[in-house]
Parts: sequence; C-alpha cells; structure tokens
Amino acid sequence: MIDNLTKIAKDLPATVPFVGPETQERENNYKFLARIGANESVFGPSEKVQDAIKNAAPLTWQYGDPENFDLIDALASFYSLKRENFVVGEGIDGLLGYLVRLFLEPGDRVVTSLGAYPTFNYHVVGFGGKLSLVPYKNFHEDLSGLIKEAKKVKAKILYFSNPDNPMGTFHQKKDVQKFIDQVPDDTLLCLDEAYSDFVGQDELAELDTSRINVIRFRTFSKAYGLAGLRVGYAIGNSTLISSFNKVRNHFGVNKIGQIAALAALEDQEYLRKTLISVEESKLRIKSIFSKMGFSSLESHTNFVAINMGKDSNYAKNILTELIKNKIFVRMPGVAPLNSFIRVSAGQEEDLRNLEKALAEIMRKN
Ligand SMILES: Cc1ncc(COP(=O)(O)O)c(C=O)c1O
Repeated sequence: MIDNLTKIAKDLPATVPFVGPETQERENNYKFLARIGANESVFGPSEKVQDAIKNAAPLTWQYGDPENFDLIDALASFYSLKRENFVVGEGIDGLLGYLVRLFLEPGDRVVTSLGAYPTFNYHVVGFGGKLSLVPYKNFHEDLSGLIKEAKKVKAKILYFSNPDNPMGTFHQKKDVQKFIDQVPDDTLLCLDEAYSDFVGQDELAELDTSRINVIRFRTFSKAYGLAGLRVGYAIGNSTLISSFNKVRNHFGVNKIGQIAALAALEDQEYLRKTLISVEESKLRIKSIFSKMGFSSLESHTNFVAINMGKDSNYAKNILTELIKNKIFVRMPGVAPLNSFIRVSAGQEEDLRNLEKALAEIMRKN
C-alpha cells in the first residue's frame, strides 16, 4: 500500500516542523516548570472568553458553522472591510496549507527567508514546491533580497513574516509598503502577521484589499491566547479569498473555537492588558539574561531572542541544559540565527524558574 503514496509524498522526509513540549515531557518523564518556548500566551484567554467556552460546551454535539459567519462578521466590522475579504481557518498553519495547495504546481518556486517559519516550508515541499531561501540581514528578513530572489526565480509565492519569528524583529510600515509595491504581479505575497497584535495597528502596512497578489494572515493563537483552539484568518482581495472555498475543510474550524475567537475579539480591554503583561515579561526576560552577560534583540512579538554570544554549539548546549532543568524554550534552526535562544513571555513564576535554572547552568559553564 505504501507504494501507492504520491511521488511527492514518497520523496518527502518524515519531518515534523516542531517537536512539541508534550513530546519532550514524555521522553524525559517530567513536566516542564515553565512552558515558554512556543510563543503561546501564558496569560491565557480572558474570563469572558472562558465563560463563552463553558457556555458553549453543551453544544459540542453540533458541527461548527461551515461559513464561520458570526466570526467573519465581527472581523469585517473590526477592520471596516467586507465579509468577502476574510477566510477563517484552522490557525494560520491550516490556511498556509490551503494557500499552497491553491497556488503551487509541483516544481513551482517559492521564496522565503533562511530560518523563517518552518511550517510554511513544510507545506510548500508537501505540495512539491521548490524553496529558495534568502538569508537574514542583520537579524531582519531581507526585504530587497526577497524581492530580488522572487524576481529571479519567478516565484509563485513570496513568504514574509512581520513581525518576524524567530528573531522578533520588525520592518517599519513605510518599508513594508514599498516592499509590497515591488512584488511582481505574478507573485503572491503571503504576509504572515501572526504577531501583528503586538505592534500598533497603525504601524502595519495598509490593508489594501484591491491588491490581488497580497494576502495577510492573522491569528487568535498569540495575543488572544487561543492557540489550542486553532483559529486564524486571512485578509485579502475577495476573489483571492473566495478561492479558499475550493479546497478548505469547511467544517475544519470547531464550534468552540469560533465562539471563543468571537468573544476574544470583542474583549479588546483584555487584549490591552495582555499586551502590557507581555511587555513587562519581555523586560524581565531581558534583564534575567543581561545579568548573565547576554544581550537581546529588540522584540516586536511576545518573545525575546537572546544572543548567547558564541557559536551555535554553545547556544544549543545552554538550551539543552535549560530543557534538562524543565524550562521549555526553543532556538532558531539555522546559522547565523542559531547562536540565539528564543524565550516566550511568561508569568512571574515561569521567569523565576528560568532565572534560577539559568543561574545554575551558568555557574557550571
Ligand atoms: C510566524 C508564525 N506564523 C504562524 C504561526 C502559527 O499560527 P497559528 O497558531 O494561527 O497556526 C506561528 C506560531 O508560532 C508563527 O510564529
């Protein structure tokens, strides 16, 4: 039977884009003391959202609304756009898969940054696309390098994440605007804004839905604290957006997820509080590492990239020790980014545990 796999699937390595903290807990036979490695929101969803989830629990015998009607309605009024400009899906991750399925033929070229979000790459190779990887420049995604490469290889899709993961860096509105203007007509710009809630809406490029070759992705997983419910959305030109109906899993977004995301969007006061907690936490993370002599990049997300100052082996070694000390953190996978460790915002208790573990590790190193 395995011989019946498609040629693309046969040739794929059996990779997982991310090893989950649960996998590590099972392997190590312990529970993490601090879960600050996956850029989740430890501050969780608001009380109002939790109440909405509890109230909806008895309705889980129902499928979710395949049109995600109420949530899309709320998003349309939140952004002052039309319903037709939105598609809701199983997190950005799910939507990226649909996007790639819609646009890639085997062998088509796709441009992204070397070391950028791996789940996108995972989808691209899964549909037979060929990746062109542009190195970061000064720990930022290289805007002119990305455009140059997209033109050179006649890319079908150009992926750019702003703010960026894994470095947490950000390109200013005017530069992104210029970048968008330079994207070739035949290339679709996939602008991943998973972390956009952590910068002011007025710092982001205009949402211009007249552009047929730009699609923006946002999520309820980060600032809104709903990663486990898997709800994300894309914003774009109505023709582009409607094409998702050809391939999306119409019942993919679960009922509780739809209800919770709607309640979260309506609770902007709680979002503001979360953003303050995240900023405070990031300052604390920076100070914990700076006391040990490590600097960090300015972060525009809910995590901090810490420069471990030496080579990737050194960073990997400290990361391994942190994991052994039950602190879940991650690090970028490729040079030159892999001399950094990435720490997500945590509660005070998480950060006390981090501080203690790091101090012990550094005494020995
Ligand atoms: C850049 C980027 N895009 C997308 C995602 C995933 O978003 P979602 O939970 O909506 O699938 C992440 C999560 O870490 C991310 O860092």
